[in-house]
Amino acid sequence: MERWLTAEGKRSVSRLLLGPALVLSLLAVQASCHGSCTHRVPSRGEVVHQVHLKPERLTKRSSPDDLQLKIKIIYDSSVDRLPADKRRLVKDKLFPQAIDYLQRAFSVRRRVGPVLLSRQCATNQYMRKRGDPHRYCQEACADITRCGPVVVPQHHLQQCKVCSESGKSCGPTGPPDGPGVDGSDFVLYVSGITTERCGQENIVAYAAYCQLEAELDRPIAGYANLCPAMISSQPQEFEGMLSTVKHEIIHALGFSAGLFAFYHDDEGKPLTPRFASGLPAFNDSLGLYQWSEAVIRRVSRLWDIRGGEMVRHHVHVLVTPRVVEEARRHFNCPILEGMELENQGGTGTELNHWEKRLLENEAMTGSHTQNRVFSRLTLAIMEDSGWYRANYSLAQRLDWGRGLGCDFVMKSCKFWMDRQRQRRHPVTPFCDTVRASPLQLTCRQDQLAVAVCNLQKYPQQLPLEYQYFDRIPDVAADQLSSFGGAVEIADFCPFSQEFSWHLSGEYQRNSYCRVSENQPDWWRNYGAEQYGPDSVCLYQKSAFVMEQCTRKMTYPDWGSGCYKVSCSYQGLTVYVQDRSFLCSRKGQLLSVSVRVSDWVYNGVLVCPACTDFCDDCPLPHQLLPINTSRSNPIGQRHSGPQSPALVTHPWEHGYNSTCFLLFIIRNCLLFLDPCSSSPGLAITLWLLLLNLVPLVAGLLVCHCS
Ligand SMILES: *[C@@H]1O[C@H](CO)[C@@H](O)[C@H](O)[C@H]1NC(C)=O
Ligand SMILES: *[C@@H]1O[C@H](CO)[C@@H](O)[C@H](O)[C@H]1NC(C)=O
Ligand SMILES: *[C@@H]1O[C@H](CO)[C@@H](O)[C@H](O)[C@H]1NC(C)=O
Ligand SMILES: *[C@@H]1O[C@H](CO)[C@@H](O)[C@H](O)[C@H]1NC(C)=O
Repeated sequence: MERWLTAEGKRSVSRLLLGPALVLSLLAVQASCHGSCTHRVPSRGEVVHQVHLKPERLTKRSSPDDLQLKIKIIYDSSVDRLPADKRRLVKDKLFPQAIDYLQRAFSVRRRVGPVLLSRQCATNQYMRKRGDPHRYCQEACADITRCGPVVVPQHHLQQCKVCSESGKSCGPTGPPDGPGVDGSDFVLYVSGITTERCGQENIVAYAAYCQLEAELDRPIAGYANLCPAMISSQPQEFEGMLSTVKHEIIHALGFSAGLFAFYHDDEGKPLTPRFASGLPAFNDSLGLYQWSEAVIRRVSRLWDIRGGEMVRHHVHVLVTPRVVEEARRHFNCPILEGMELENQGGTGTELNHWEKRLLENEAMTGSHTQNRVFSRLTLAIMEDSGWYRANYSLAQRLDWGRGLGCDFVMKSCKFWMDRQRQRRHPVTPFCDTVRASPLQLTCRQDQLAVAVCNLQKYPQQLPLEYQYFDRIPDVAADQLSSFGGAVEIADFCPFSQEFSWHLSGEYQRNSYCRVSENQPDWWRNYGAEQYGPDSVCLYQKSAFVMEQCTRKMTYPDWGSGCYKVSCSYQGLTVYVQDRSFLCSRKGQLLSVSVRVSDWVYNGVLVCPACTDFCDDCPLPHQLLPINTSRSNPIGQRHSGPQSPALVTHPWEHGYNSTCFLLFIIRNCLLFLDPCSSSPGLAITLWLLLLNLVPLVAGLLVCHCS
């Protein structure tokens, strides 16, 4: 079950103008909507276990080898009462597409006959008779049987079976068995009801199972309720809603703390011992059926925290065979016990999801931050339930944590960041710059979106085990205990997140490079960026400067932007407006000077590794000399002689803003004259020099001439 919150306060953005001010409308930047999922495990009384189904009649499906999962969606009448656009979205797109993916990804291990659900009892009293697979209600069945908030149609129900109060005389009563739902393995009742939970938890959708069959305890029916007010028909929100629906149905199919005790091995034997009743023990303090150590184990980690100290951090780890194998391979850690489950977020989030710190954008983590993918790990847990087989070609590539080793997956993020700093490596996938105005922009882990580091100050100290910083520039030592990542369930580890721009509270666009609709208006395109299907996120070495005759401006939020790239036998080419730049090595600096309308943009971009984006990259000896960058007008790509001056870069000794300003002047002189037909150049330069006066002292020291 799911709760989607739009958290994150809005942040306003200040700007710095050099030269005469331009009037710009104020935009607020907001980290992407954080939906967190609370899958509320159904209470004991809500779930019917051991529902006896007749064996499958073989004629009903094309071939006995066709075990592809078949999900039958039954729309409740409440869905038809939704406004037309929302109804169409739910019935024509969201559910058909989600079901299509899940049916292709999974097949069932055993098929059963028509799904025919057991009736709920009038009281919560029922009994079973030895040698009889049916469940008998005490005195009477309930008038209606529900699956979550949905009333199950009579023709999906078995005949009512009751015993007298003494339990002596038992037998069927009322209308006979209905026909049930033939040719499907799972019936999903979909409703659009504004339930109490919708109001309380600000949820988009929630889902769970309601009946499990007798042979393997596989869920055979479940429900998904959409909260009508929260359904959005905005096109840019579709992908997020679709992955939410898939995520929820996966909870109902098997990934749920309420089902771990019912998992079976490949031979069909329960992984958790059963009582004579056929059920595992119920743990009242957890409110869940208690699983065995064959499913989940508690392990303790040595956990580095602030001040060179170490504490014990206890986690639950899923230890079924395929999950262990996939987790070890994903992280490249052969001694890993299994895959860690979420330990935060309260009942509903914890234990029902993968640990956010370790699998950030995996779709079965407890909140939606960015770029959700259903990875091999999620397919593996579904296989390890003993109910399904998975087709791994439908798994999506997960980059987060891939190959980072045991120090990443078995230690705190402080340990990892410290180790990376010692080796002079970036601290990715974590980050350590405070989200403050002006924003320091960076790239998302997959380099396909502009992002900001979500390290922030909390109003209070964080719990000791989540205090990770020994120092942060410009932060007093006594404040360090309040700094942590904005996503609590990621163990407060900070990481870079994509974000969206809002104007007067209204969504404008987001920072994903591959969508052309995210292209900013030209007068707001401070970094000469280009969004579209061929664009990727590149780092900027300095802020872009926009110049006109007498005006000059730069935008305070900088650090990365979206630019179009292409691959060729020569390597990776970056395009900025009408110019192209060939990247011959990672980290090479590209001096960009382009004209857009009557503005000249000057800036410096950093080349990514060609192999990050291209399949065929030139070998090192085939590359251009490493200390040059060329810029060519598009159309005469990489053709050499006509290209403007080669520039040697002043940053060999690290970034320094004084050098940066000086470099702008050089660029300005070397490349384009923003005021080609007027005496304005002199004016611009004078303005610039005036701006530089306080910095002149620094010039000599930084060796950047
Ligand atoms: C029930 O769960 C609690 C909390 O996880 C645990 O400490 C306890 O050992 C469990 N009880 C049994 C009988 O397993
Ligand atoms: C797995 O999925 C792929 C891609 O949809 C498909 O080509 C392949 O036949 C499937 N494999 C099985 C065993 O169903
Ligand atoms: C820079 O490249 C030139 C050739 O273009 C070469 O002569 C020079 O040694 C290089 N400098 C460094 C520091 O690599
Ligand atoms: C740049 O270098 C100068 C001289 O070393 C120094 O005074 C100044 O603070 C530096 N600026 C930055 C932003 O590091």
